[in-house]
Amino acid sequence: MKLLVINGPNLNMLGIREKELYGAKDYAALCAFIQQTAEELQAEVDIYQSNHEGDLVDCIQNAYGKVDGIVINPAAYTHTSVAILDALKAVSIPACEVHLTDVNAREDFRKISYVRLACEKTFSGYGFEGYAMAMRHLCSK
Ligand code: DQA
Repeated sequence: MKLLVINGPNLNMLGIREKELYGAKDYAALCAFIQQTAEELQAEVDIYQSNHEGDLVDCIQNAYGKVDGIVINPAAYTHTSVAILDALKAVSIPACEVHLTDVNAREDFRKISYVRLACEKTFSGYGFEGYAMAMRHLCSK
């Protein structure tokens, strides 16, 4: 099982940005958590982060034929990006959407997710654990 975890803009600022919302652990800690979860699942994982929409689209396209599942936290692009939605649809790789915070309990604009339309499941508001839940779902198929 080969998984790809994709993180969108500002997630590299974990541990610095809005700690009351996103917690005190930094992006390296998130990557270590994802890596450890993959080992427990006996899966391979690649982790990618970018602040640029087109780079996220390129990353999804490059996964075509190489990856069995995608876990994506598109961050702010969740609420705006038809391009990321279309890329996920184009590659038809089983995907799950993850958010550290509960986006449905925040501002109204965060309740809209384009990416969700191409995802099997959404895990929102579980912190780092949401990534593990998504990875377990994809590995259980
Ligand atoms: C987020 C929620 C988004 O609304 C926000 O723009 C982010 C992070 C989350 O993980 O909770 O950057 O995706």
